[in-house]
Amino acid sequence: MKVLVIGSGGREHAIVNSIRNSRHNPEVYCAPGNGGISDEARAVDIKASDVKGLLEFALENKIDLTVVGPEIPLSLGIADEFNENGLRIFGPGKKASLLESSKEFSKDFLNRNGIRTADYKVFTCFDAANDFASKKPHPIVIKASGLAAGKGVFIPETPGDSKIILDKIFNKKIFGESGDTVVIEDFLKGFELSYMVVTDGISYKPLVTSMDYKKIFDGGRGENTGGMGAITPNPFVSGSLEDKIKKEIIEKTLGAMRKEGIKYKGVLYAGVMIDGDNINVLEFNVRFGDPETQAILIRLKSDIVDLFDSVIDERLGDFDIEFDDNKSVCLVMASGGYPGKYDTGYEISFEGLPKNNDKKYFIFHAGTKKKGGKYFTDGGRVLNICVKGKTRDITTKAYEIAGKIDFKNKYFRKDIGKELT
Ligand code: AMP
Ligand code: GLY
Repeated sequence: MKVLVIGSGGREHAIVNSIRNSRHNPEVYCAPGNGGISDEARAVDIKASDVKGLLEFALENKIDLTVVGPEIPLSLGIADEFNENGLRIFGPGKKASLLESSKEFSKDFLNRNGIRTADYKVFTCFDAANDFASKKPHPIVIKASGLAAGKGVFIPETPGDSKIILDKIFNKKIFGESGDTVVIEDFLKGFELSYMVVTDGISYKPLVTSMDYKKIFDGGRGENTGGMGAITPNPFVSGSLEDKIKKEIIEKTLGAMRKEGIKYKGVLYAGVMIDGDNINVLEFNVRFGDPETQAILIRLKSDIVDLFDSVIDERLGDFDIEFDDNKSVCLVMASGGYPGKYDTGYEISFEGLPKNNDKKYFIFHAGTKKKGGKYFTDGGRVLNICVKGKTRDITTKAYEIAGKIDFKNKYFRKDIGKELT
């Protein structure tokens, strides 16, 4: 069996790793992959956004199953293209992917289906947006509607700041077409969490709960990033809160998708804000979260290929997703300067790593490349150190490993996992 994974980050490395553990003993390909993935899968030099190129490759090489990591190919309709050509693919189609690729679509969808979300208004020109913003009590939340690599959300404190942001989006076009439409919404307070399920469009199965660390600095300070670490389980999610999220957000969303005739097969990731009894949706992602997935998949006991097959064949209701009863942590090692400007091309040294006979830790590569048998930094987030075990000592272990890995300007937060009990 041949499996193709699309993407090039730590999430894709973790997916490749799980696929290699499958009883189907698959031949694994990854497009475009990275330095670490190329040790475990055949690297295919096609960009994740090149849907036509990926389709041709999959047809020519008779790929049996394709798994999509990032949102861009999904938003471009890769799942529809593959399905139309008789190829099996894990990930939602273009219409369903609008939940992530268009904040306008997603807010309207929530609104018309009675699923709680912040009050909002949609704008397509600077003057009307600025007029509206200038009359609102601040802070407010300004969001570019289209995909903006996690950088399209602003929380200005004053009307003056709102004007500057709207000018950048509408007039200076900092997000290009992704900023042609802008959502302005009320600021919500509370505590934020994300929740992921796998669905075949009929039933759904939750993944273990997780928590990610979005900000660049310790204590949740500084700029937003793609994620500087993650833990499972999320210590702040009780069973009753999880039930409420399932009932009020996940089931209502999947039910509304069905009612609107939109097939949803893949991962649904809900970012929510909890304030007392109120749960509001902040955003949806239509894919596995990164780096949460790395911390989750190292605990997966079920065969991931069987899981993907059960989704594609709409038999998820009969499939049990099993996880082991460990805790896990994923520590992200980044290039100094990230999420702003940073340099790449530095050699990475892995000398002196502790023994790993029992496979309790995993080093997933994100922004790396391999040349002449050596690894070099090639992105903002470079490596993911993932450890599982029964106690919170896994955090100490992750930091011990990070201490043994070296590259110029390496940076990581020092407080990942401190919430583990
Ligand atoms: P989003 O991509 O929509 O999840 O927004 C990115 C981040 O902005 C979220 O993780 C929240 O921290 C914050 N955010 C988004 N919408 C709101 C809101 N309505 N109120 C408060 N914070 C928000
Ligand atoms: N960790 C957040 C995301 O994947 O969007």
